[in-house]
Amino acid sequence: LQDTYTLANDVQIPCIGFGTWQTPNGETAINSVKAALKAGYRHIDTAACYGNEASVGQAIKESGVPREEIFVTSKVWNTERGYEKTLAAFETTMEKLDLDYVDLYLIHWPAAANQFENWKEINAQTWRALEELYIEGKVKAIGVSNFLPHHLEALLEGVKVVPMVNQIEYHPGFMQAESVAFCKAHNILVEAWSPLGTGNVLNNETLIMMAQKYSKTVAQICIRWVLQHGLLPLPKSITESRIIENTEVFDFEIKDEDMAIIDAIPFCGGAGINPDAINF
Ligand code: A2P
Repeated sequence: LQDTYTLANDVQIPCIGFGTWQTPNGETAINSVKAALKAGYRHIDTAACYGNEASVGQAIKESGVPREEIFVTSKVWNTERGYEKTLAAFETTMEKLDLDYVDLYLIHWPAAANQFENWKEINAQTWRALEELYIEGKVKAIGVSNFLPHHLEALLEGVKVVPMVNQIEYHPGFMQAESVAFCKAHNILVEAWSPLGTGNVLNNETLIMMAQKYSKTVAQICIRWVLQHGLLPLPKSITESRIIENTEVFDFEIKDEDMAIIDAIPFCGGAGINPDAINF
């Protein structure tokens, strides 16, 4: 759990992050983030739109774990795209988290290519704000989320700083092979949101069979499978026993032939979102 990936700018990022999407602000978020830190997680993933940044920040402070030992990610929401609005959104995020810096700041969703005529320009302006925050040292790393290869290709044309991360939906049955290949080719670390398919892939028969074979749970198989693909899983849970269970993935290895069997599972639950087909 203390293992890290190294980002393109040499920043170390703990190899499993604690997801907080759909975790309500208040007691639930405070208690689950504290439980995660107690279980050994050192990487917390939040976002302005999750509405729980204040509780995440509070839990970090109350945990007693030194700030510098924890990797914190947040994201700018879609209504705040553009240079000025993104800088203002970052200030709001910092006030809510009540921390001195953020480790990783992401553009939450690309302006979709078939929703916005000027999507390239919008993404470029939002990115310019992130570059400025990075150069000023207010964030240790910057990246994007839910970007497809064409969003990244367009963005890369004008960047000073190449995104260090792309956080995408990734779980058995939804592997986004083209996005992953593009990111690997550009040294962009891929983070997997909903590695359990929001809990909906856990009934898949192939995964249940794998869990039995390795004497692990299906959730552990999914998390381990993400790690063995060189990606960074962000499992979410508000249940302490599951929070702990999701860390116990370092005492076994999925064999190549079983990785291939899991890779071949067809879509079996999860959001399955096409970022160009939505307009939040
Ligand atoms: P809960 O938060 O109520 O504990 P994902 O990370 O793919 O978005 O999945 C999150 C969903 O999976 C949540 O509903 C969460 O439930 C559930 N979940 C997380 N870890 C486990 C686990 N180890 N076993 C079963 N369900 C889990």
